[in-house]
Amino acid sequence: MRPGHGILRAVTRDLSANHRSDQAAGSRNALVIAIDGPSSSGKSTVGAEAARRLRYRFCDTGLLYRAVAWLALDRGVAPADVAGLVPLAGEVALVADSRGRLRHIHADGRDVTRQVRGAAVDRAVSAYAKVPELRAALVTRQRDMAAAGGIIMAGRDIGTVILPNADVKIYLNASAEERARRRAVQRRTTDETEAGQILEDLRRRDSIDSNRETAPLRTAPDAFIINTDGNSFDQTVAAVMGAIAEAQDGSRGA
Ligand code: DC
Repeated sequence: MRPGHGILRAVTRDLSANHRSDQAAGSRNALVIAIDGPSSSGKSTVGAEAARRLRYRFCDTGLLYRAVAWLALDRGVAPADVAGLVPLAGEVALVADSRGRLRHIHADGRDVTRQVRGAAVDRAVSAYAKVPELRAALVTRQRDMAAAGGIIMAGRDIGTVILPNADVKIYLNASAEERARRRAVQRRTTDETEAGQILEDLRRRDSIDSNRETAPLRTAPDAFIINTDGNSFDQTVAAVMGAIAEAQDGSRGA
């Protein structure tokens, strides 16, 4: 579970990659923290709470892919229509709430945060997210958001591709069954057929996200792996805070 290097080394490499300002690197309060993991592993809720405690910004990058998929469905643009798809990336924007959490997404000039979490987008988004040209169109925007430090960024490829020099990398995992149960609770579903469908959809999405050629879901070699099966929300937040503290201790001892 212990990653292979300390924060100070990571910061040095990060600076050489020119992803962060000198000011950010000099401050313990400006760490860049990547949280990756499969659908419904808790990245967004746990990451947002950890960011609140640290007084960091929080960014849920899944919203970018969801908003592009939502726009594409709305306009009848298929995943294979790369020329039609890529410009849609320029029409979506993450918007901070009053606490600086980048948890709202605007598309078509309005807030579509609720819409992008619907079942239609759930089913379609992985097919859009695997298009390399769309991913390329979103890379710089994600890096720019992290450039000043003091951020927790959640997604699939944050620690491996978007921010390979992040100070702390965390991989949140849970079994498909546990994640499907959580999703069913979120949707207030008690119907068994619907619950079975949620599990099936989730497995299909896992497979697309993990097997795509560009930036597949992977555990970074230097990530803390936290398995959340059977954990309460508070226990997982505590595990994430513990990993961040351990990484800081590691850097002090390095
Ligand atoms: O985390 P989520 O379920 O909201 O993600 C929605 C989709 O976007 C999912 O198919 C994975 C994809 N995604 C991605 O490929 N890379 C990211 N950094 C974030 C999400």
